[in-house]
Amino acid sequence: MSEAGDPQNTRVLVTGGAGFIGSHTVVELLQDGYQVVIVDDLSNASEKVIGRIKAIVGDAAAANLTFYRSDVNDREAMNAVFDKNRIDRVIHFAGFKAVGESVGKPIEYYANNLGNTLTLVDVMRRHGCKDIIFSSSATVYGDPDALPLTEESPKKPATNPYGWTKWMIEQVLTDLHTADPEWNVVLLRYFNPIGAHPSGLMGEDPKGIPNNLLPYVAQVAVGKRECVHVFGDDYDTPDGTGVRDYVHVCDLASGHAAALKWMNGRTGVEIFNLGTGKGTSVLEIIKAFSRACGKDIPYQIDPRRAGDVTANYADCSKAKREMGWEAKFDIDDMCRDSWNWQSNNPNGYEG
Ligand code: UD1
Repeated sequence: MSEAGDPQNTRVLVTGGAGFIGSHTVVELLQDGYQVVIVDDLSNASEKVIGRIKAIVGDAAAANLTFYRSDVNDREAMNAVFDKNRIDRVIHFAGFKAVGESVGKPIEYYANNLGNTLTLVDVMRRHGCKDIIFSSSATVYGDPDALPLTEESPKKPATNPYGWTKWMIEQVLTDLHTADPEWNVVLLRYFNPIGAHPSGLMGEDPKGIPNNLLPYVAQVAVGKRECVHVFGDDYDTPDGTGVRDYVHVCDLASGHAAALKWMNGRTGVEIFNLGTGKGTSVLEIIKAFSRACGKDIPYQIDPRRAGDVTANYADCSKAKREMGWEAKFDIDDMCRDSWNWQSNNPNGYEG
């Protein structure tokens, strides 16, 4: 059974802690007083993130942060991290995440995302650490039969290898608990994470052309791209465009902090949706972002994108009931913080 509790005495390993959701979560944990160890190979993140995290939390909390530039697939490196640091709990973000790319590179996606998880949990159990929070996704619900989605809604076949890796890792961790009931597994299913740290120091920094809506809209707003391509306006939704449950990345960060507390003294496998419970259409996002940046955002209607669902949004009552967590930020807050980040850092961390 998990015995960690008091943040000051709890060391949390955060894989992928330099990434978008990981970095915001690390800030939250340091501010809560946790000891944090980041393992990130920086394959899709900037080393500058570490300095930004330290700047946000201040010197005292920054002293509780250790960073290793390593690949989670590197068993020797992971063993060394666990040998040098008594790790109480793990939050596992590290993984490839580009949906489109995963279709062309299934071997790389399965090898990296599944492989690093298997290495991680093997190293964990050899070091007597059996508490893990996994970064899953609403993508496991596929095309929903009914909305809102609860944790009991059925998992559906994924539409791409990235989605399958989330789906399969959930299963791996569930089987691990069946084999050894001492494991304490929390699967957090994120809806659509957007926004940025209100300081303007951290945010999403996609390489190349953004696949996701928000970073694309932000790049149009800052003048890096000409116009937003809206993928379909003939869906069965109020304005015909796709509806999603966008959630502020800082709310997701506090969701991880809530899950860490909730895990105390437990074992099992528990699933939580992390979203706002509200659906927002693509056109509503474009309007909200225009309000945030004070200019019109040009867009054009394009055909639907393969694999997109009409609408999804979460029922988050379980997270509220069990962990006392709920999202605090609304769409206007998300767009404001996203714009603040994008306008202060037009070229992301390298700007
Ligand atoms: C996507 C992934 C999901 C992943 C998530 C990570 C797919 C099918 N799903 O979610 O597995 O967990 O990203 O953040 O790719 N849109 C446009 N124009 C754009 C981009 C998007 O109109 O340039 C629309 C989409 O059609 C959709 C909405 O905006 O209706 C949100 O799209 P996106 O941000 O890519 O997220 P998802 O597709 O929901």
